Amino acid sequence: MSDIFAALRQEHQALLLAIDELRAIADGLDELPEHAVRHSLDGVYHFLTHRLKRHAAAEENTLYPLVGRILGSPQATATMSRDHIEVSRLADQMEWLLSHAAAFDLEQRKNLRRMLYGLHTLLKVHFVKEEEIYFPLLKNHLSRGEANRLLGKMAESSPREDGPPVQ
Ligand SMILES: [Fe+2]
Ligand SMILES: [Fe+2]
Repeated sequence: MSDIFAALRQEHQALLLAIDELRAIADGLDELPEHAVRHSLDGVYHFLTHRLKRHAAAEENTLYPLVGRILGSPQATATMSRDHIEVSRLADQMEWLLSHAAAFDLEQRKNLRRMLYGLHTLLKVHFVKEEEIYFPLLKNHLSRGEANRLLGKMAESSPREDGPPVQ
């Protein structure tokens, strides 16, 4: 039974490597030349809208409904789903900036830095909440068969390395 949660934690660990890059990019944003800012942000946008989005969708379809069942209400996971929506909203903002900014001046870099730090904090806290609250809850309440089915479904839609890394 512990294997399933090791697998889920492992998936989080892989995603957290890219999430930590968000802060590193924000830290160095002022020193980056124009083309490097765009390249880094393209990587961030791709990560948010592919790997991370697939992970969130898998949770919405499989993991969260099980947590809702255990807690006795589908609304129990609504605040976590709201986090997923907020990440999508910030990705949309980034896409808008990427498609509209002719150049990244100091003001735009300031806005981007806020956005990246916001995403980094939101995602770190979100992952901790899943690992410290949802995973133990599932571990204590799911049968072995249910846990294996959950792992299988999460693996089917798990993030794959199919695009440019965040850099
Ligand atoms: Fe999540
Ligand atoms: Fe997650």
